[in-house]
Amino acid sequence: MLVAVLAGDGIGPEIMVEARRVLDVLAIPDLTFEEAPVGGAAYKAAGHPLPPATLDLAKRADAILFGAVGDPDCDALERHLRPEQAILGLRKELTLFSNLRPAKVFGELADASTLRKDVAEAIDILIVRELNGDVYFGEKGMRTTTAGLREGYDIMSYDEAEVHRIAHSGFQAAQARRSKLCSVDKANVLETSQLWRDVVIEVSKEYPDVELSHMYVDNAAMQLVKNPGQFDVIVTGNLFGDILSDLASMCVGSIGLLASASLDANNKGLYEPIHGSAPDIAGQGKANPLAMILSVAMMLRFSLGLSAEADRIEAAVAKALSSGARSGDIGGSLSTRAMGDAVLAALA
Ligand code: NAD
Ligand code: IPM
Ligand code: MN
Repeated sequence: MLVAVLAGDGIGPEIMVEARRVLDVLAIPDLTFEEAPVGGAAYKAAGHPLPPATLDLAKRADAILFGAVGDPDCDALERHLRPEQAILGLRKELTLFSNLRPAKVFGELADASTLRKDVAEAIDILIVRELNGDVYFGEKGMRTTTAGLREGYDIMSYDEAEVHRIAHSGFQAAQARRSKLCSVDKANVLETSQLWRDVVIEVSKEYPDVELSHMYVDNAAMQLVKNPGQFDVIVTGNLFGDILSDLASMCVGSIGLLASASLDANNKGLYEPIHGSAPDIAGQGKANPLAMILSVAMMLRFSLGLSAEADRIEAAVAKALSSGARSGDIGGSLSTRAMGDAVLAALA
């Protein structure tokens, strides 16, 4: 089995090193790794954020481990050359439409949340975010209005097939958990969301065992802070899912803790933390590698059929945290390497 290793920019390579150390200790037979540049690093080396050789590797691989992309040096480039286009391109080219972003509090870590401990302790949410459509992939551009004003535009749309397949992902994820699905939209204002809601209701007929509810996205943001324990699975569109998952990460304690899987219809997947390249702390050994390490666990479980090894990693992360390992983002001072060491010690 081949794993593509795309470390990317900023803290991406720093946290990827720790993920690789965990994989080395597990010593899984027949697992091979191939690295390739992506994002700003690839632009600087090869003139494109997603060079053909990197895309080809991602297509050949059985699974993809992805660090993060984003480089302030590249923020003024034409949009198609910016680092972020690499992750968007991979999601689209590989039809990775279903993005699973679990947010669960590690018992010992409820103090790291900026929510009250009794509120934070109840969090066990799975956000199922659509990843191939929405305002991300509609027509966009800059134009001049008839009044001579500059105008930027990005068209938001979903067709029913796109909503249909992510709705199935949401219902099936709920069936595997506590059988509650909350669909988040903005149907009071947006036609895109009205279609979303209509299709989710149609699909719900196939899942009578799942309790379906609907919530507007503004209320959902408020409810995630007020009473996050009310949610089991949330299914939502690309943009709302992006925003709500960063919000949920801080309810849990830190964005440095949240892993994700981006899956196609056959569970081929790309695995990455939900955070970015964190240029403000890059190169300082401060990044929390746990989101990246937990992304490895998701990869082993979903794409490589190695759930016992995935369980081992998750248990080791929980053990490291309960033994007091804390990087700066969760109230401690351990370096990226020391956090990796703590997980390795717990694995031994
Ligand atoms: P970010 O997620 O990179 O950082 C937000 C804040 O969280 C920063 O203060 C950062 O230091 C902190 N943080 C993030 N990850 C951390 C970790 N593992 N440990 C400790 N602290 C952590 O978001 P941003 O600053 O808005 O974006 C920076 C760049 O990353 C941008 O170029 C953006 O486009 C890109 N980005 C990429 C991805 C991706 O590759 N999938 C995701 C989000 C943002
Ligand atoms: C994420 C990121 C990306 C997104 C960016 C970097 C394109 O924020 O993975 O959450 O908006 O999807
Ligand atoms: Mn994001």
